[in-house]
Amino acid sequence: MSATLIDGKHQAQLLNQATREGVLKLSETAGFVPTLAVILVGEDPASQVYVRNKVRTAGEIGIKSLEFVLPADATQETLEAKIKELSDDEGVDGILVQLPLPKHLNEDAAIELIAPLKDVDGLTEKSAGRLSLGKVGLRPCTPKGSVILAKSALGDDLSGKNVVVIGRSILVGKPAAFLFLEENCTVTIAHSRTKNLPEICKNADILVAAVGRPLMVKADWVKEGACVIDVGINRVPNDNPNSEKKTKLVGDVDFDGAKTVAGQITPVPGGVGPMTIACLMQNTLEASKLRRGLV
Ligand code: GUN
Repeated sequence: MSATLIDGKHQAQLLNQATREGVLKLSETAGFVPTLAVILVGEDPASQVYVRNKVRTAGEIGIKSLEFVLPADATQETLEAKIKELSDDEGVDGILVQLPLPKHLNEDAAIELIAPLKDVDGLTEKSAGRLSLGKVGLRPCTPKGSVILAKSALGDDLSGKNVVVIGRSILVGKPAAFLFLEENCTVTIAHSRTKNLPEICKNADILVAAVGRPLMVKADWVKEGACVIDVGINRVPNDNPNSEKKTKLVGDVDFDGAKTVAGQITPVPGGVGPMTIACLMQNTLEASKLRRGLV
């Protein structure tokens, strides 16, 4: 048996279309265009690609984007001054600081300076607190996209599903656990110290892999018919002798093995990645309305 592919690109297009319509409606009825400010520090190639894709998608949807590139040796003061300026700017609706920052910078301190109503990444203490309390707020994009993909595969009602999230990062693992809990799932957070990880994963109706370890989740960790959401994006040497490319992208899941057991599975690339950007666009639209009291 082979799993059904969960088409993240298609789901992202659907969400982007809805966001595009929302943006158009706002500009017609309220007379403004949602604006996203993106800050990139340094020249990390992967981060440059992510930022380029975010700015391009914003343009396609009708969201205005402002890009600020700071040098790799920028000081904490310079970064914080830029974030404060954008937080105070009435014309800016969303602020995203591309992570990871260069090692000499204090990520937490920088993130906390983002005005909570503009926190389109959902990473500030206020946003994380609101998520954990079940209050309305801006939710982190990758976990939000993961829930949408699970629903696209299994239907809108996920209640009672056993969800195992592997990984406890602030960006993905922890918020994913809360978001699936909001969907009335029974959630287990597994991590590097978890005992019997394969057995625990095998209980999952929905298995979310977010550890950043290439091909870690094997076929025999997956329950027959489970929905597998692979959040990992790992660049590894390309072992295909027919390809000119030296490297390739793989997820945290051994896709070729897992697809023989799973019911539905996300590919890498083309799974969760496009959804992260689509959810960022949706969050920017939502933030622009929240700040003006339009929702
Ligand atoms: N780096 C990798 N993923 C993300 C994300 O979702 N947001 C930000 N700001 N940086 C990232």
